[in-house]
Amino acid sequence: MGKFMIEQSGPLHGEVEISGAKNAVLPIMAATILAEDHYEINDAPQLRDVDVMCRLLRKMGAEVNEDYSCGTITIQMKKIIEGEVPYDLVKRMRASFFVLGPLLAKTGRARIALPGGCTIGDRPVELHLKGLRILGAQVTDDHGYIEAVADKLQGGKVYLDFPSVGATENIMMAATLAEGVTVIENAAQEPEIVDLASFLNKMGARIKGAGTDTIKIEGVTSLHGCRHAVIPDRIETGTFMVAAAITRGDILIRNVVSDHVKPVIAKLMECGVVIEDTEEGMRVRGDVNPLIATDIKTLPYPGFPTDMQAQFMALQTTVQGPSVAIENVFENRFMHVGELNRMGANIKIDGKSAMIPGGKHLSGAEVICTDLRGGAAVVLAALVASERTEVSEIYHVDRGYERFVEKLSSLGANISRIED
Ligand code: UD1
Repeated sequence: MGKFMIEQSGPLHGEVEISGAKNAVLPIMAATILAEDHYEINDAPQLRDVDVMCRLLRKMGAEVNEDYSCGTITIQMKKIIEGEVPYDLVKRMRASFFVLGPLLAKTGRARIALPGGCTIGDRPVELHLKGLRILGAQVTDDHGYIEAVADKLQGGKVYLDFPSVGATENIMMAATLAEGVTVIENAAQEPEIVDLASFLNKMGARIKGAGTDTIKIEGVTSLHGCRHAVIPDRIETGTFMVAAAITRGDILIRNVVSDHVKPVIAKLMECGVVIEDTEEGMRVRGDVNPLIATDIKTLPYPGFPTDMQAQFMALQTTVQGPSVAIENVFENRFMHVGELNRMGANIKIDGKSAMIPGGKHLSGAEVICTDLRGGAAVVLAALVASERTEVSEIYHVDRGYERFVEKLSSLGANISRIED
């Protein structure tokens, strides 16, 4: 297992290209189960999670070819030979659960290991199952596995008690092949939902309203292959925006949809960061004004993303003045606080709130990546910490950041990866 070695780096400067979105490509790959045909997915990022999804599809009988020199994954979906997803794959990547809906809709049966606990919280799946039951599936829980069976799914009205991203995606995929109309109310509105709906519509599905809180899916009898380019990763974008701010640098970020990062733009501007949309991309400058504190509160999209809370907190520790970060989406998403405190952040947690005193000069320490975004947060903090920071358990970061070290180094960061 490798480590990152990071030295204080000074302001980051230059240009960086954002990769395709992890959280868009994973459900899109799962959706290919819905039709035995050929797919070409462009702008696919080379990530550990994408690798797991490729393995999962191969296990089901698909031919999957990954060519990251051009960011293309081609999938020839074949007749499904394996309708069971073992715990080994689900525990590596929770998004394996996305195959439940498409597998059930296509083959009439799916058996998937329950995701179980996860470091950032309980992450239950009852909303996924509620939706599939409304569509007529018999769902049983058997020795740590969920088994869903249905001769033919029927459209229905599903109200989600919380706008869960995964539940919206699973139900939307299953409903494409159901008989009649399905309506998902209080649906998640994330850009990744819109990208999945647009992929499914290219496959011949009839989905309207993705990106709003009500999605209507008119079932069709069959779907077909297609070609699709994945949207840019808004969380990677936000992470590099914070990298510019925390190092008081000046970065041009290419391949960005600025609408997708509105809350991050707003919050960074409140801190005094200057952000400008240009023809070539988004220019983010932390070197214009002294940066000041601002509070954040995570919410489902279009609120401030929970996936940016940790990275933003790293910034909050270094700006002038105290601030608060409130985590409303996951109940245990402050593991990175202990690591930031090892670097001198002195953050206190009270329930859903983290109190950040701010104005800290961080110092290097031995820290770990507690999870994917927590890992990114300690890397960002290490860029401005005096002395060397040694970051271990970096496999978390490999799950969601393509060529992270290379991209940061090209901006002037003093970071290297060592394998032990
Ligand atoms: C997705 C993202 C993840 C992001 C999260 C919230 C992917 C692969 N992952 O995860 O990066 O942090 O959205 O933006 O896209 N919940 C229930 N019951 C359910 C399902 C969810 O109570 O059946 C709760 C969860 O415990 C959590 C909240 O809903 O508190 C949000 O979870 P959800 O939107 O489902 O997140 P994921 O789809 O797992």
